[in-house]
Amino acid sequence: MKATARAHTNIALIKYWGKRNEQLILPTNSSLSLTLNGFHTTTTVEFQEDLTEDNFFLNDESVKGEQYDRVAKFLDLIRLRTGKEGLYASVRSTNEVPTAAGFASSASGFAALAAAGTKAAGLEMSSQDLSRITRQGSGSACRSIYGGFAEWRMGDRPDGADSHAIPVASAEHWDIRVAAVVLNDTMKKVSSRAGMKRTVETSPFFRGWIESVPNDLKEIKAGIAMKDFEKVGQIAEANCLKMHATTLGANPPFTYWLDTTMTVMQKVREMRKSGLPVYFTIDAGPNVKVLYLPEYEEKVKQILSDIEGVTDVRLSKVGQGVTYL
Ligand code: PMV
Repeated sequence: MKATARAHTNIALIKYWGKRNEQLILPTNSSLSLTLNGFHTTTTVEFQEDLTEDNFFLNDESVKGEQYDRVAKFLDLIRLRTGKEGLYASVRSTNEVPTAAGFASSASGFAALAAAGTKAAGLEMSSQDLSRITRQGSGSACRSIYGGFAEWRMGDRPDGADSHAIPVASAEHWDIRVAAVVLNDTMKKVSSRAGMKRTVETSPFFRGWIESVPNDLKEIKAGIAMKDFEKVGQIAEANCLKMHATTLGANPPFTYWLDTTMTVMQKVREMRKSGLPVYFTIDAGPNVKVLYLPEYEEKVKQILSDIEGVTDVRLSKVGQGVTYL
């Protein structure tokens, strides 16, 4: 009735941007990510007969409101499978994902919750089963079940049975690194959920986005297999720019970028011109993630840290999938 699991966050190289079913969290495109070892969530779930509702503690503080509701709703999915509808759980999470670093802690959070919750409930789950149920907590989280590179296949079934992540390459396949460049203002003004919805419903660029993803995905997988850093970096950077372009076409238009976001992007291009192989990617927020190879770590960190408006640079290697503690 009790289990503890740990999951790492991930950064998408081919973005998930758009839902075809908001209830089941079914995407309009497949995506691909790199699991990072630097940032993780550890969660213990215990189902207890004497509880009259779920409770949720994050870093030892009781959580209420929207965040609590999402956790309780996710536990409902587990209860639906076990048939024990009145059995509530105590959930305790520790987050080693600094929210300021601009990583969606929801990815590691829901992957850890799904793993600990299903195990505590006594459900036997394959990694694919786990990825499928995790998807319904937070879409990008379904990729964090696996370490290394993972692809979330969008699937085409209306019930989502074929929409889950699969492993593409293990964490040991390739030592590629990510620098999370933390900026002054980290306020996320439009949530990824709201941003996707508005883009799907109103942006004329959305169609172009959807049409271009399958080829990006095919090419980046070839690049990963060959460990071709330039190829992977170029595709990831271009794919990120296309995703962000869709937001400018939305009504009302919006962007996740700040002036410093663009300064960092510009610096990455300059570094490339001077011979340093680096590429950027950006999620639904202003912070920039920079891809680089280990031999350039010191230089990359130095240059990024010196940019005005950058408050921190956090380095990460490739991480492992979900583990049970
Ligand atoms: O799963 P969510 O709702 O946190 O959405 C994630 C969206 C992006 O981070 C922008 C892209 C991605 O694939 O992670």
